[in-house]
Amino acid sequence: MRIAIVGPGAIGSLFYIRLSLAGHQPWLIARDERQARALSQTPLTLLEGESSLQVKAKILCPPLESYPFDLVLIATKAQDTKRAAETALPALGPSTLVLTLQNGLGPQKILLDAFGEGRVLAGTTAQGATLLAPGVVRHGGDGETYLGPAAKGGPSGEEIARILSLAGLKASATPEIFTYIWRKLAINCAINPLTAILGVQNGELAKNNAAKKIIAKVAGEVAAVALKEGVDLGEEGQLAEKIILVAEATAQNRSSMLQDVAAGRLTETDFINGAVAALGKKHSIPCPLNETLHEMIKALEAIKRS
Ligand code: PAF
Repeated sequence: MRIAIVGPGAIGSLFYIRLSLAGHQPWLIARDERQARALSQTPLTLLEGESSLQVKAKILCPPLESYPFDLVLIATKAQDTKRAAETALPALGPSTLVLTLQNGLGPQKILLDAFGEGRVLAGTTAQGATLLAPGVVRHGGDGETYLGPAAKGGPSGEEIARILSLAGLKASATPEIFTYIWRKLAINCAINPLTAILGVQNGELAKNNAAKKIIAKVAGEVAAVALKEGVDLGEEGQLAEKIILVAEATAQNRSSMLQDVAAGRLTETDFINGAVAALGKKHSIPCPLNETLHEMIKALEAIKRS
């Protein structure tokens, strides 16, 4: 299968290396020539426990010519989705599928608008990966990947799930993909802004009663909005418990939002708390916690980037 991966971050690099080792010859699409040059200096490296796997990457950067890829996997930050879609467009053949494994709610719609309902797969992954340096990924643990049609009547994703699973990236296709996306969104709505604002690793939240109270309120808002969108995330208390379990299971992680804020980068907040707050407004569901966390992260971004 001819595969292109747009976004050489932690998840993009992890999937690239695993697919390469499984015998595919994917292309990694860099943002620009500078990033492509930096990535081609050394092999991509996957650190797992004490072992280190290396793969020489095949790298392209925009403007792409017409490569008839079978699958384009979008693994950029959510706020870079438009740019990723523009980059990928010339590389689409008549039957190319596009799969997003990005965080948050919003990238799916941007890709549907760009490519149409017949070829976009929405997905979410619980793979634990941290980018230590360009091209160097630490694999913190295997988590499942779910994917399915981003719009009614879209591709099922069965074949892609099979290919990922054979490459050691456990994946399942499901028509209920948005349930999985909302579950991950609830986790990100609580853990990401709190760790970024408090400047702590995920595990600290699970030990802190005040933080746990905030998590419960965030979970309640996300569950109420999700229900209006047709997704049942279950009872608020149970959802909050699940989020706290994730914080415990990833105790040593510095969340992606904490890393972005610390590095003075823009965060994915518009696609996380911002997306929930916007949908809350649409459905007249008050979301004061999500609104405030969104604004606080915006304020932090501005301070760190000034
Ligand atoms: O964005 C992240 O960092 C991760 O999705 C999660 C689950 C919060 C773990 O750090």
